[in-house]
Amino acid sequence: MANSEQNIASDERRDSYTLQRNFQSSIRLNAQHYLWKDAVGYNIHPRIPVLDCPTFKIADIGTGTAIWVTDVKREYPRVQVDGFDLNLKQAPAVKWMPHGTSLITCDARKPPDPRFQHQYDIVNIRLFLAVVENNDPSIILDHALRLLKPGGWIQWSEHVMSDISCKSAQADTIPPHCAMEELAQFLQRTNLGRWVPELPKLFAERNFTEAEMYKYPILPHTRLFWTQMQFNSTMDYTFMALDNDTSDSAGPQAREMIARAVEETQRGIALDFIPTTTVAQLPLTWGEGGGRSSYRL
Ligand SMILES: C[S@@+](CC[C@H](N)C(=O)[O-])C[C@H]1O[C@@H](n2cnc3c(N)ncnc32)[C@H](O)[C@@H]1O
Repeated sequence: MANSEQNIASDERRDSYTLQRNFQSSIRLNAQHYLWKDAVGYNIHPRIPVLDCPTFKIADIGTGTAIWVTDVKREYPRVQVDGFDLNLKQAPAVKWMPHGTSLITCDARKPPDPRFQHQYDIVNIRLFLAVVENNDPSIILDHALRLLKPGGWIQWSEHVMSDISCKSAQADTIPPHCAMEELAQFLQRTNLGRWVPELPKLFAERNFTEAEMYKYPILPHTRLFWTQMQFNSTMDYTFMALDNDTSDSAGPQAREMIARAVEETQRGIALDFIPTTTVAQLPLTWGEGGGRSSYRL
């Protein structure tokens, strides 16, 4: 399908996000939330203390459908949870959001409005591979950090692309000309998320303490479900980031590869994933730890 046949909204064309925000993309984000939670076992990492009271504030950067916001709110009914996004078209009507939540239009590449700075106990970021530009999350991290109170926590959850591999239920080896293997290699070649393994170092450079990345290999029976989500996001990517001018262009070619990989799922072939969460805390006092205190105003 050429780009012209895809109804890509003009506001999406204008920003640099390389996925779509249509209803299929929203279905993926919502399914992904529950699969992610099933794999890692939490909404908020157990190292992070949560006080279930109205003065405890949590920010979700790039909230998407706001599914994390609403699920955290169900778990901690008294906290305040705010979802920030460049484009909130995938989120529910504000009127239908739970009391004690809000949705705020905000570009994570720009400094946050002063009224949000140093207000939050926890900042959550998840699935920003298609948001971070030039393989450098520094700007987004610096702005996220400004939202935090001293002593606040950050959790940033992502895939490490180099950990995505092709698996076959039938054999130890992957059959020749395997489209799923091609897809795994295609994902590596996008170069998206090369920065993810660097997150603990980037946190430590910004004076966060005890930055640690936790890895959660998925269960074999869920590989098919995760692979189907990857089909969906890669389809989005082919429309948003690849050349779709002719039927020989990179976009249509990638979609043809995905169609072959879909067939292969019927023969027990799928992708394997290792979701990660990196967690760290800001020191309680300015400048503690001898590092750079980039959270100063
Ligand atoms: C892959 S989705 C992840 C959504 C959500 N974090 C989740 O885990 O379900 C990425 C989100 O980032 C948002 N986004 C893209 N560019 C952004 C920017 N510059 N600032 C803030 N959010 C952005 C998109 O609108 C989208 O909602």
